[in-house]
Amino acid sequence: MKALRVVFAASTALCAATAAQATDLEVTHWWTSGGEAAAVAEFAKAFDATGNKWVDGAIAGSGGTARPIMISRITGGDPMAATQFNHGRQAEELVEAGLMRDLTDIAEEGKWKEIVFPSSLLDSCTLDGRIYCVPVNIHSPQWLWLNNSAFEDNGLAVPTNWDEFVAAAPKLQEAGIVPLAMGQQPWQTTLAFQTLLTALAGPETYTKVFGDKDAELAAGPELTKVFQAAATARDLAKDSNVQAWNDATNLVITGKAGGQIMGDWAQGEFQVAEQVAGKDYTCLPGLGVNEVIQTGGDAFYFPKVDDEAITKAQGELAKVMISPETQVAFNLKKGSLPVRGDVDLSAANDCMRKGLDILAKGNIIPGTDQLMSADSNQQVNDLFVEFFNNPEMSAEDAQAQFASIISSAD
Ligand code: GAL
Repeated sequence: MKALRVVFAASTALCAATAAQATDLEVTHWWTSGGEAAAVAEFAKAFDATGNKWVDGAIAGSGGTARPIMISRITGGDPMAATQFNHGRQAEELVEAGLMRDLTDIAEEGKWKEIVFPSSLLDSCTLDGRIYCVPVNIHSPQWLWLNNSAFEDNGLAVPTNWDEFVAAAPKLQEAGIVPLAMGQQPWQTTLAFQTLLTALAGPETYTKVFGDKDAELAAGPELTKVFQAAATARDLAKDSNVQAWNDATNLVITGKAGGQIMGDWAQGEFQVAEQVAGKDYTCLPGLGVNEVIQTGGDAFYFPKVDDEAITKAQGELAKVMISPETQVAFNLKKGSLPVRGDVDLSAANDCMRKGLDILAKGNIIPGTDQLMSADSNQQVNDLFVEFFNNPEMSAEDAQAQFASIISSAD
């Protein structure tokens, strides 16, 4: 009997100890589409396996909707335990204000400086030599997604570049198919423009305009070509009539639209729809013109909280997110590339392989969030959502306004 009591006492103590370690962490993000939710589930599963609990704080809408909510909670003294931001400067004022947890010890223990590739991802987390976020993926906006049968069923070859796509558009329209699907959220219209810029004027021009803030170049003939292409894209997208990016992707998946300029997170939607890259759909990095990828994507930040258990669990979450197995499980579902090169991606599909090959060649450019402040990016977003929604706005007028924004951008 005594032995039984000893066993019971020991197991109770163990349960109590385990229970004491188990901490709920509220994690905010804006991943609410089918593909995004499937990817978030991989993070939650991996974190729950540590004995803690992922409390999902999904915020519907786009990043542009979610980030002000995240920022006001952190500055308002009601912080979540962890939150998504894009790679770059979106959280720099929160870090400068001392509101975000320094992860440098964890980064050094995990040798992040050795494993994260490209290192610019970690640079975007670093301020005054200290590291404040864990990068979790690489997402690039530079893609054109095509529904193969929308072209083949109408006697068209699947386009291999932007010009072929534009040339095929009239036949698609005759068949009642919207050539270009585009949601009308501001970041989507800017994404379309900056992807056209990188493809048609080249990555160097992109980096000079968004990185060096070269207003003369922004006002010049190089960009005039891009604004004319943007006006063409506006015309091809005029019958999209959707708001959310994944609703536009769904138009392509269901064959109601021929293509969409969108980041590689669109892959998650094709996967949820059980469509096969290379068979059902085609992806053209750099619109099939300039094969580069942007090192955009996502990182998680951890607001400082005066709670030892939460602080400990925050560190455990950061380690889980960058671990090799979680990097594979999450990125395969998300359609993004991992932030470390030492992982097995044999399960990667045709499109992910294209991205990995471009990354391996070093054909990478920084994301606009890494090059410009959140405020300057917002001004650009406001311009392009107006341009793509207002056919009365001429390409010339839009270019003049863009050059003016770039001249005062930071
Ligand atoms: C981006 C983010 C991606 C993707 C997209 C659409 O900012 O980096 O992960 O989900 O928003 O929500």
